[in-house]
Amino acid sequence: MKKVIMDVDTGIDDALALVYALRSPELEVLGITTCFGNHTVEQTTKNTLKVLELLNRTDIPVAKGAREPVFRRNDKGPSSFHGSDGLACAPLPEPKAEPADEHAADFIVRMVRTYPHEVTLIPVGPLTNLALAVMKDPSIARLVKNVTLMGGAVFHPGNYTPVAEANIYADPEAAELVFRSGMPVTMVGLDVTMKTLLPRSVLEEWRKIGTPLGRFLTHITEFYMDAYLKFYPSIGGCALHDPLAVGAVIDPSFVKTERLYVQVDTEGEISKGRTVADLRPSHPEPNVDVCTEVDAERFLRHFLDRMNRPGS
Ligand code: BDR
Ligand code: CA
Repeated sequence: MKKVIMDVDTGIDDALALVYALRSPELEVLGITTCFGNHTVEQTTKNTLKVLELLNRTDIPVAKGAREPVFRRNDKGPSSFHGSDGLACAPLPEPKAEPADEHAADFIVRMVRTYPHEVTLIPVGPLTNLALAVMKDPSIARLVKNVTLMGGAVFHPGNYTPVAEANIYADPEAAELVFRSGMPVTMVGLDVTMKTLLPRSVLEEWRKIGTPLGRFLTHITEFYMDAYLKFYPSIGGCALHDPLAVGAVIDPSFVKTERLYVQVDTEGEISKGRTVADLRPSHPEPNVDVCTEVDAERFLRHFLDRMNRPGS
């Protein structure tokens, strides 16, 4: 089993990624850390706890993290793609469980030091908690097995601005810090996540599951697909951004990567948050494995197989 920590800003596709990860026997989820992003960190933490209660997995610690970017104020409000509470106002009970009494960054440092070279971090929100963890203890950079993050775009346009993807835009300095930290980074960006589309037909299948989890999945995914339809009228479904990062850890053969030198634009007025890869023949030493291709069909089959399993 691969030891992982999910760092989330739950969010609809974060919730899908959590369900996918927790239903995958290949992964041992050591804990979940939360960040601002799709909503405030208070709300994303609450959403995470709600999902865990639905899955009967409150044994997994949830450590609340950053409410603001590392070096600037948050200029990115809650995302309309996820509804006013981040989970399409799905009718879930208020969570009974509380977050752990430890900051997300401390939790990450502690786990990486407890299991040197074993922990894969899967951040699917802004990279603030990871940056804080490395700033607190730079030695973890050589102890982390891999950082497989959802964020950025090299060849694909942005989704939050014309050139920036939302997670990187939310805290570009944190992303730059993580990219330069020496940690092995795999970037699962829009280049591949915009190719892994969940078709609308899945809603009918999930509706038939007939469990509270099935109803929840149908509710949030329908909302997400409607939001996608408004923004991308020609896409017949929604992109599986955060689940693909989980998939790439479970089975790295779902994606093909290219080792590239990637920098994050932290200053540009128009291009803030853009992940810029140096594609020139004589480029500096590469620092990121950028996912450039995905076997979307095989990944989708795997994702659906795990989501459709009976339970909860
Ligand atoms: C990313 O932004 C968030 O809205 C999603 O949860 C995903 O992590 C996609 O750009
Ligand atoms: Ca997310």
